[in-house]
Amino acid sequence: MSLRHLIPLVSHPPEDRPMPDTPVRPEPAPRGRLLVLEPMSSGLTLLGTARELGLETLVFSHDAADRVVPETARADVDRLVVVDTNDSAALAEAAAREHARSPLSGVVSGSEFYTDAAARIAHRLGLPGLPLDTAEAVRDKTRMRAILEKAGLRIPRYAPVDGADELDAAAAQVGFPCVLKPAAGSGSIQVSRVEDHAQLRAAYRAIAEDAQYVFDQPEDGRALLEEYLDGPEYSVEGYVHRGAVVVVSVTRKLLGAEPYFVELGHVVQADLAPDVRAGVVAYTADAITALGITLGLFHAEVRITADGPVLIEVGARLAGDRIAELIHLATGVSLRHIAVAAHAGLDREPAEAVGRPVARYAGIHFFTAPGLEVFQRAEGLAEVERHPRVTELRTYYQPGDAVPPARDLRCRLGHVIYTAESAEEEAELRAGFAAAVRFS
Ligand SMILES: Nc1ncnc2c1ncn2[C@@H]1O[C@H](COP(=O)(O)OP(=O)(O)OP(=O)(O)O)[C@@H](O)[C@H]1O
Ligand SMILES: [Mg+2]
Repeated sequence: MSLRHLIPLVSHPPEDRPMPDTPVRPEPAPRGRLLVLEPMSSGLTLLGTARELGLETLVFSHDAADRVVPETARADVDRLVVVDTNDSAALAEAAAREHARSPLSGVVSGSEFYTDAAARIAHRLGLPGLPLDTAEAVRDKTRMRAILEKAGLRIPRYAPVDGADELDAAAAQVGFPCVLKPAAGSGSIQVSRVEDHAQLRAAYRAIAEDAQYVFDQPEDGRALLEEYLDGPEYSVEGYVHRGAVVVVSVTRKLLGAEPYFVELGHVVQADLAPDVRAGVVAYTADAITALGITLGLFHAEVRITADGPVLIEVGARLAGDRIAELIHLATGVSLRHIAVAAHAGLDREPAEAVGRPVARYAGIHFFTAPGLEVFQRAEGLAEVERHPRVTELRTYYQPGDAVPPARDLRCRLGHVIYTAESAEEEAELRAGFAAAVRFS
């Protein structure tokens, strides 16, 4: 089964649920034309948002295999151009043709995987976009580390690994325990903590052998070995507007058992002492500036170690795992509107994309069933769905589907999104939902 089918598609919550005010009213006449490159998962929400902002939507998609525009999203697409989105030359040609046909106002990637391609198109057509070096760095974890190191920011010891023969030298430089990961991966796929040389070799073999894993993007088995950062993890979401880095949320990340790093939930906002939060915000802003992110959204991941905050990575895109919806629920800020406005060059203050929060906290909990190999049924869902704090409940599998092992996001069986008024209530709800749902 492809990764795409395991990532829940985003839809609007049922209408009887409280939601913040729609931040921006639909506008009658098209105010421009936005190219969205291979929208998937949370990136699909950019389409409806562009429409709300009065833009026509043009989508470039391979529209086959793993890269298909889902039926549910097609209503928000004014024009779909089928092109191999992994082929830079074909993309450049299609973009030039479309721009000549009817000028584009902007281009935005619909996922992590096409951030660099979107920047290249923007650059060629003279549209708002990330600097090309930046766009490449946010897709390459080794380059990201090198840039932050040069800027003097706190980072883990690291070593690129381009072949099995480099493992011993990398381990000598980094030390155990450490984390091995693909240099351009996503979804925590093939990311693991390793304790010794034998585990390191096994982890590297898995990366090299499983090189072609998502969206047919050319993978070369390049890996990155990093010092293990010990400490709780948060994501930091925000945007850059007119040179200023604005942090909207420091989001608590809930992780499964190591040596893997399965994301089991997120909570907006994290309960941090003001000085600790300020430290995370300042460090993240420095990292965003050092990487040259000059426009649009960022989603950074940071661990708070004994030495202070340390960056895991930054994406120059909308956060996944429904974090943008959690932020909307708990702060009223619509990151989707900010992203579209920034990339389409709309002369709009990001503050306009703010509605009213509906609760102080919003969380997502992902259901897992360690050891379950084949999904048959889920019990207890109705009870959770009826809970007044629940805004959405989803399951991803059909009876008879194989359930992948608990190593990355593919093992997650469904999710519940909920709101809470206190940290205690949030923790209670999460534990209650986890206990109420049983998979067999
Ligand atoms: N050096 C490290 N020390 C400790 N934990 C790490 C380290 N690097 C990665 N991790 C853990 O592994 C997770 C995934 O790593 P990373 O973000 O680099 O990969 P990814 O495939 O992009 O993941 P995702 O798409 O889920 O963010 C991190 O969120 C973190 O929990
Ligand atoms: Mg990550």
